[in-house]
Amino acid sequence: MVRIGSITLDAPFFQAGLAGYSDAAMRLVARRHGCPYCVTEAMLDQFLIQGGKGVRAAELRDEDHPIAGQLMGSHPQDIADGARVLIGLGYDVVDVNLACPVRKIRRKCRGGHLLSVPDEAIAILDAVAQSVAGEVPCTVKLRRGTDDSPEAAAAFERIFEAARRLGYAGAVVHGRTVVQKYLGPSSWPFLRKLVDQYGCSDGFVIGGSGDVWTASDIERMRSEAGVELVSVARGCIGNPWLFAQARALANGDPDAAARPPTIHQQRDVLREHFELSMSLHGQRRAGMLMRKFGIKFSLHHPRAEQVKRAFISVASLEDWRAVLETWFEQDGPGRPADVELAHTGEADGI
Ligand SMILES: Cc1cc2nc3c(=O)[nH]c(=O)nc-3n(C[C@H](O)[C@H](O)[C@H](O)COP(=O)(O)O)c2cc1C
Repeated sequence: MVRIGSITLDAPFFQAGLAGYSDAAMRLVARRHGCPYCVTEAMLDQFLIQGGKGVRAAELRDEDHPIAGQLMGSHPQDIADGARVLIGLGYDVVDVNLACPVRKIRRKCRGGHLLSVPDEAIAILDAVAQSVAGEVPCTVKLRRGTDDSPEAAAAFERIFEAARRLGYAGAVVHGRTVVQKYLGPSSWPFLRKLVDQYGCSDGFVIGGSGDVWTASDIERMRSEAGVELVSVARGCIGNPWLFAQARALANGDPDAAARPPTIHQQRDVLREHFELSMSLHGQRRAGMLMRKFGIKFSLHHPRAEQVKRAFISVASLEDWRAVLETWFEQDGPGRPADVELAHTGEADGI
């Protein structure tokens, strides 16, 4: 059991925010495979407070709880108002993004930029906490610093300590710096030091992020870094089975945890994901979105390269169905997870 303020999770992992991926369709598929908690992709405060499309995009389905709505912005009042919109929409947790390394976001003084201006970051954390006023727990997502300088370390510490002081329920720390983006490893030793320094037991949960590709990475991050909660990000794109495998591992069933999804299990999830995506976005947009998921899902197929190529040329629902008919009709064992393959080409996100 892990507690995030008043929310109790029955497993120590969750699906992270993944801009361009972690919409309600991906979240519902993850939950149906045992994911106990999800964070949305970062939502701009302005989009939420202006109403209309931004609010519609943030609307929730009943099955999609508990969930954190993640906010990104640069002005304390706006981001605090955005938090009220999320509460009105039924979000269970408000999460503040101080992590995004994408240049256009940082240029607007949002996301990871705020780690370099601790006074502003703390003003935002304070405004959000006041506006939420204990109605739901607040959390914060950070990187371990702007860069490797002592100034960045001091700024991180100030912000982290402020979150604790302001009554935040927890923080998820990505063990890469903002400058690092996705190059090089996430520093789990940094997470370990943080846990050793602050402990995880006084009602402030410390979560870790970075380089979680398999179910056993979840266990490994918990034991090596000591974090209570593990964020699963790129590792679960096209791999919702990871959550069931993590539960199997925790239940002492390593065989089930190592079993790749059969071809029919893959087919069923691909259908389900597409249908959910279509019901959310309509056929045209779902077709575009699902192509990149199909490419990731193809890694589980014994003919991964050919299936990947087939998904790359999908443009319509008919094309999608044709790929399923050609490659997924005949059942058989899936391909064991290949971490190296899963790892490639996903370094463009937040
Ligand atoms: C495409 C992409 C989009 C992302 N979007 C978000 C986001 O909206 N909010 C967030 O907190 N983190 C976001 N992240 C960061 C991930 O949640 C995670 O911290 C990061 O990928 C490190 O974990 P990993 O190495 O296990 O993938 C994104 C990452 C990627 C690759």
